Amino acid sequence: MQPVSHVLVVSADESLRERVIGGLNAAAARLENPHGVFAIGAQTGEAALNAVLADGDIQVVLVDHGDHRRAGDHSAMHKAPNRAAVLTLQRIIELRPELSLYMMLEDDDTKLLVEALASDAVDGYFFRDEEDLGGWFRILAAEVAQKSDTPFYDKLREYVALAKDSWHTPGHGGGDSFKGSAWVSDFYDFVGEEMLRADLSVSVPMLDSLLHPTGVIAQSQRLAAKAFGARATFFATNGTSTSNKVIFQTLLTPGAKLLLDRNCHKSVHHGVILSGARPVYLDSSVNRQFGIFGPVPRATLLRAIDEHADARVLILTSCTYDGLRYDLKPIIAAAHAKGIKVVVDEAWYGHARFHPELRPTALECGADYVTQSTHKVLSAFSQASMIHVNDAGFDEHLFRENFNMHASTSPQYNLIASLDVARKQAVMEGYKLLDRSLRFARELREKINSTGAFRVLELEDMLPAELRGDDILLDPTKLTIDISASGFSADELREALIERFNIQVEKNTHNTLTLLLTIGTTRSKVSRLFDAMLRLAKERRPPRTYLRTPQAPGFSQLACLPRDAFYEAGERVSLLDDNGHPNPHLIGRVCCDQIVPYPPGIPLLVPGQLIDSGAIAFLARLLQTQKSIDVHGLAGLDGEWQLRVLTQSEMQLVVERNAR
Ligand SMILES: Cc1ncc(COP(=O)(O)O)c(C=O)c1O
Repeated sequence: MQPVSHVLVVSADESLRERVIGGLNAAAARLENPHGVFAIGAQTGEAALNAVLADGDIQVVLVDHGDHRRAGDHSAMHKAPNRAAVLTLQRIIELRPELSLYMMLEDDDTKLLVEALASDAVDGYFFRDEEDLGGWFRILAAEVAQKSDTPFYDKLREYVALAKDSWHTPGHGGGDSFKGSAWVSDFYDFVGEEMLRADLSVSVPMLDSLLHPTGVIAQSQRLAAKAFGARATFFATNGTSTSNKVIFQTLLTPGAKLLLDRNCHKSVHHGVILSGARPVYLDSSVNRQFGIFGPVPRATLLRAIDEHADARVLILTSCTYDGLRYDLKPIIAAAHAKGIKVVVDEAWYGHARFHPELRPTALECGADYVTQSTHKVLSAFSQASMIHVNDAGFDEHLFRENFNMHASTSPQYNLIASLDVARKQAVMEGYKLLDRSLRFARELREKINSTGAFRVLELEDMLPAELRGDDILLDPTKLTIDISASGFSADELREALIERFNIQVEKNTHNTLTLLLTIGTTRSKVSRLFDAMLRLAKERRPPRTYLRTPQAPGFSQLACLPRDAFYEAGERVSLLDDNGHPNPHLIGRVCCDQIVPYPPGIPLLVPGQLIDSGAIAFLARLLQTQKSIDVHGLAGLDGEWQLRVLTQSEMQLVVERNAR
């Protein structure tokens, strides 16, 4: 398939516009044009903005900055800035920052003016009185080529094509160990030859090193930084789980204060242990009707920032698994005013930069560090994530030491290539694909609602009461469906969808299902889903009662740093006593592990937390009443649920250490 790259020529000067379009297209027909560069026109700024929104194939916008003076008129008045052109440029950047912007200028003075006004947002310029349209075409075609470049992936393909003999890792030697085997050759066929040939190692110097990138990986990371609007970007092949830990270890020294949402992903809680940070947990909001855990209320956050001005870092999750996202700007501004760095976990929001309906991104709101699971919502392979940095005080050496502590010395090269390709796709056609996903989301919303038995929740339905007024937004590509009028339980519905209709959904609560629409969602998937929901709705099951999400007990208190409790040997104490009641001997003890019931996946206890009667009663009730509950962190022995807690002597030692 041939790509198409439209160059939008914006000029009110019809004759100039037509000449430029004609000249560029004549050159496009005459010269090599692998990216399908083709010029189209718009007369006004407004027409240009409409075109940029309607045409996902536009890659470059060429704006005429001229003030259209009559020939021979060189009066000083005409040197005034063409505000309309600058405004058009600014609006285009706001809508689609991935587009390349070029200008047609009058003379050198104007050039300086534009540089001052639009700074680095403008990628290049041409002088109107030098209409070398063949030359302009070459420059614009090179711009498209540069944006769509994939330095690492290209080099990987080049190396594979060279068919070198492998005398290095991995042991399968480019797949040769599988070939001809009566036992495992099917794996070779299943995975595919190229994938195995491209599974290489640091022994190949031309492919650079993820742990010390100076060549093609560094180039690919620079392109990613430009695409996502960061000062620097780092590829991670161990997911956002590891990325969060790396950032914590970089920013937090033992004892440094950290503000975090208790509902953060478990990697954040692991980062607390590894870094030795002193956490201040903020309670997230909860919508108990639907079992949805939302952001921390803005007032709580602002109060915490005020009360803990000595905190070094604030971490927020935006958007959440369910698509709820903060109005980040005022929160980040408040944190920055106290000198607190802001990390945003955008594991679920890596696509946002490429559609105006999803922006602003956390980086655009001023976040210092952002982690993204590129694999969750864009085309990268599972585990392929990015860390974006905008912190002016970024210590790259320290970051590198921490990154390398967590990264494998044998990263999977197909994952790195997939990050390169995912970035290219997001830049070149992300807008177009996301526009389609957003359209599908709107259609599905209507169709599902029309079944009468299922209803897609609106933001207002999802928002916990305490968040009203916080300007929370919803990522429309995440659809949460209320199933409570259908008579199905969530488990029955998931099972019916998978067994009868071959449809696997993202997750569920007791009375909702969540669907994730991505750039991989197709029209046929949309219609198959609707068909299934309609058939299930027609079954008209008798109404059932759905139990609300149980109210989890509030956070008790930390007896010591999470790290101190985690690294002690501890002892194991049963959750239940001989009569099957919550064991009173656990009350007042200090938990060594993170105890997390799934769903909802929020830690009930963290290492270092004082165990109170509420926590053990809640845990015992969950385990005794809910069949499908899974509790991470319990030390099960001989079929008994146990918690690892500090021994009395360890507790004394740790508490003393903390008091020092
Ligand atoms: C909010 C959040 N952060 C981080 C992660 C971890 O991401 P990854 O799967 O890329 O390791 C997840 C995973 O689901 C998540 O939900």
